[in-house]
Amino acid sequence: MLSLKDIDFKGKRVLLRVDFNVPLKEGEITDDTRIQASLETIKYILDRGGRLVIISHLGRPKGRKIQEMSLAPVAQRLSSLISIPVKFIPDCIGHEVENAVTSLRDGEVVLLENLRFYRGEEENDPQFARKLAGLADIYVNDAFATAHRAHASIEGVTHYIKTRAPGFLMEKEIKWLGRVCKSPSHPFLVILGGVKVSTKIGVIENLLPKCDKLLISGGMTYTFFRSLGKGIGSSMVEKDKLDVARKILDKVGNKLLLPSDSVIANRVAEDAEVRVVEEIPDGWIGVDTGPATIERYKREIGSAKTILWNGPPGVFEVDRFLNGTKQIALALKNAKDTGAVVIAGGGDTASAINKLGLKDGFTHISTGGGASLEFLAGKKLPAIAALYE
Ligand code: 3PG
Repeated sequence: MLSLKDIDFKGKRVLLRVDFNVPLKEGEITDDTRIQASLETIKYILDRGGRLVIISHLGRPKGRKIQEMSLAPVAQRLSSLISIPVKFIPDCIGHEVENAVTSLRDGEVVLLENLRFYRGEEENDPQFARKLAGLADIYVNDAFATAHRAHASIEGVTHYIKTRAPGFLMEKEIKWLGRVCKSPSHPFLVILGGVKVSTKIGVIENLLPKCDKLLISGGMTYTFFRSLGKGIGSSMVEKDKLDVARKILDKVGNKLLLPSDSVIANRVAEDAEVRVVEEIPDGWIGVDTGPATIERYKREIGSAKTILWNGPPGVFEVDRFLNGTKQIALALKNAKDTGAVVIAGGGDTASAINKLGLKDGFTHISTGGGASLEFLAGKKLPAIAALYE
């Protein structure tokens, strides 16, 4: 498989699939992490005289043109980040696009409109894929966060462009998440959190045999607790996953650690009444992992050589319940500073790290939500298969 460094981009039209599915509020980008994450690839191609055609999806418009899901604000932000004009084309196929691409000169860039304004994108329609492919000589995929979707711009298009390569972000994601799955240094610790155990069953099943310890935290704790018959008050529980949770606990023995205490609140708000308990009384909600558990987990972190963190241990969005997440993130930063490989994944985990200003405390922070979960569950991702086969 080619890498970007093997390709001569000078004078070539390059179709670059990125994941610029960024959060927008009233037309303003509230977090540009995903744009920043592909800048290295974008600059590399432009600096070498490539004529860059950037494509992405945003949101889930389901084949309709929805103005609030236009990529126009992204073109502006990208332009200010790379200090080069980024021409926005209000379509992603058709004459206007073809003309814009034909007039591109070396080192110039256009961003096309949201691919999902056409049904053909999600349906992986060969006609749609062929139209996209017709815009370029070279295809580069840097959209790791969409790598689990077999869509036209991800999979279909690769049937029509011979020269294709992963971008630097895609390579980095495959390298670090691949390291975790295939050759972690031991002790290898997995810390899972977040609300739903259902989204992480695949990861637990794939990584349990490979890791030395798996620490459970966050909202998913309560599904495990309920499966053991413990009181969880009004905490969220996935009733249809109680059997699975119980089976996991029966199978793994002491490799899997559960919290011994929880921070609970009478409601999820900054001014809520808060307590620390071992068993949650009726009417109360688990909002953070308890301090004794955090201390125990910090000791595990201190002795690990590879650590994967996916899912926050508490409702970090509310400052009052941020402590568990902060303590874990700081302990992970210390572990990285003393030589451990520390990988974080998942949208909420990345937001928590951003909120705490601790981005530099990690070896790698995955840009993928669903994609990183599927990768870590050992599934073959369509984007990677299409690039490498
Ligand atoms: C994501 O945000 O996880 C990716 O952009 C994929 O989006 P999707 O779940 O709408 O396919």
